[in-house]
Amino acid sequence: MEAADVDLTVYPDECDAFGHLNQASFLSLFERARWEALARGPGMDVFTRHGVWPAVRRTTIDYHLAAFPGDVLRFHQALTRVGRTSFTMRQTARRRADDNLIATAEFIFVCINREGRPAPVPDEMASAFARDRAEGDGMQRITVRGAELAVESQGSGPAVLFIHGFPLDRTIWRHQVDHLDGFRRIAPDLRGMGRSAAPDLGYSMSTYAEDLAGLLEALGEESAVLCGHSMGGYIAFEFLRRWPDRVRGLILVDTKAEADTDEGRKGRDKQVALVREHGALAIAAAMLPKLMAPGAPGGVVQQVKAMMEATPVAGVAGALTAMRDRSDSSVLLPELGRMPVLVVTGAEDAIIPAGASKAMADAIPGAEFRSVPGAGHLPSLERPEETTRILLEFLAG
Ligand code: MLT
Repeated sequence: MEAADVDLTVYPDECDAFGHLNQASFLSLFERARWEALARGPGMDVFTRHGVWPAVRRTTIDYHLAAFPGDVLRFHQALTRVGRTSFTMRQTARRRADDNLIATAEFIFVCINREGRPAPVPDEMASAFARDRAEGDGMQRITVRGAELAVESQGSGPAVLFIHGFPLDRTIWRHQVDHLDGFRRIAPDLRGMGRSAAPDLGYSMSTYAEDLAGLLEALGEESAVLCGHSMGGYIAFEFLRRWPDRVRGLILVDTKAEADTDEGRKGRDKQVALVREHGALAIAAAMLPKLMAPGAPGGVVQQVKAMMEATPVAGVAGALTAMRDRSDSSVLLPELGRMPVLVVTGAEDAIIPAGASKAMADAIPGAEFRSVPGAGHLPSLERPEETTRILLEFLAG
């Protein structure tokens, strides 16, 4: 259990007539878990010691599943943004017995002094959660265009920018980021997903691409090889459209160049309604059976399920509208002959069939095409060694 994790038992007096943990009680439990995490770290008096008080400015809670008296809930708290006078904390509550996600919450706090005026966030408080923020994996937080983005950078050499798909996070590239020696591997969480901030509005392919351009700039990289998975590929195309000179090569993993059809757009709208009404859990349940080939390791399936379920509603809905409204990138394909391009597909991809990826590769002069046997839509996780080897052969070339 991490330091920022707190276990709390649900009591009968916190439940309604049906025996469900009451929605208002969740607020108290989230609050108790925050104070407990502080008590174990810098002390509950960390704010008063600095003459400030954290006032809640905004609360968003998604209730996913019912909890009952006697359930032990594990609360995880993570600081997703620290500004000068305000900070954002994202919390999740999972039932310890079955690890099911019960609720997710985001709280925006403003520190105020005794006169009620905004005052600086105590450094001590921010650093108390630093271990969680750093996650021991080289993760940094960089603010780009007002959104704090989590990004991991490892190694040195020519930069490769890994762009994950929907509704996932940078950890789908774990094996590649750990093993592609000789390259600087940069893997961000897109806004609205993973450990990055999830603003309510402002999602589009341009926003994602601008975020990535800002991140590269902040990390001192003029250009990079872009490696995009599925929605990450759509973003890579947008980046390429805007900054062709900053792209040294392209790796397109289980993605496509075409825009959504009219029917596809209607499907996105239905999914937005679904996530707004039933939360990320419903999207995860609908997507999970199609994501991986039969026989994918149970641990990987669990990891992907947890990743999807933990994505904030704003991030899921934002990504869906961004995908719905994206431009057709097919016109770019014939022009890509001027740079090295690799198209990778899981041989058993049920979302973007291998045949469609092959057709895309055929439309790009000189592109290399590789199919990963036994993998579905997520070869980087389902067949990590094989995928890393394919990427390394391409990058080394
Ligand atoms: C993804 O994997 O990023 C999405 O499923 C792509 C899509 O829905 O078009």
